[in-house]
Amino acid sequence: MSGSEAEHEYWGKLARTFHYDALYVVGSDVYQEVEGWLQKQFRDTDTVLELGCGTGFFSEMIADRVKHLTATDLAPEMIEQAKNNLSQFSNVELKIEDGYATSFEDDGFDALLLVNLLHIVERPIAVLKESHRVLSSDGRIVIVDVTGHGMSLLKKMKLVIRYLRKFGKPPSNNRSFSQDELAAMINEAGFTVEEIELIGNDTKAVCLTGKKDVSYT
Ligand SMILES: C[S@@+](CC[C@H](N)C(=O)[O-])C[C@H]1O[C@@H](n2cnc3c(N)ncnc32)[C@H](O)[C@@H]1O
Repeated sequence: MSGSEAEHEYWGKLARTFHYDALYVVGSDVYQEVEGWLQKQFRDTDTVLELGCGTGFFSEMIADRVKHLTATDLAPEMIEQAKNNLSQFSNVELKIEDGYATSFEDDGFDALLLVNLLHIVERPIAVLKESHRVLSSDGRIVIVDVTGHGMSLLKKMKLVIRYLRKFGKPPSNNRSFSQDELAAMINEAGFTVEEIELIGNDTKAVCLTGKKDVSYT
């Protein structure tokens, strides 16, 4: 089963202003911390696949740290924005791909990057299983997911108000994962958690790296 027309349409409409709206909602502080964390997760020999890259905000953070980055998204409108934002990188390729069922061969990538994708898709485990399929046997998965867990009630309420102001009522798929919930999903999809931490002073993000468990079928 693939990403639905409705999902496609929803994200396509947000594409033009998504970068600025998301920064307004989440705040730049947490993403500065995420950038520092992300840059430690990749090597200059890595061939990386990013699913749900959106406008390329996080692709840009790692592009000059890796050998090659294939940044993908379900919505062509997001890919258009990402093309503008990433045009200076000769090692970045942009493609329309559905994270549930990509066109890539088995075991082709050294690392996978998923930022703010799992909490918005209907079936996160299915996306993780597809990530497992396309990762090489010693490959790593790198996940960043903004979460309300670990935030005070007041800060969470302010975050919700900022979200409603920019994006309106959230789709019913939207949720917020704790570190334990994310770790459990990763295990279920055939990965072993290597590192997991909660980053951010106000808004929080769960940051996780995992290794492919090759015994998993
Ligand atoms: C919350 S945005 C995150 C974008 C980007 N990673 C960021 O954090 O700025 C979620 C992105 O996932 C994309 N998306 C939604 N469903 C998808 C699917 N089934 N496969 C791939 N991308 C998908 C949307 O088009 C959107 O660009």
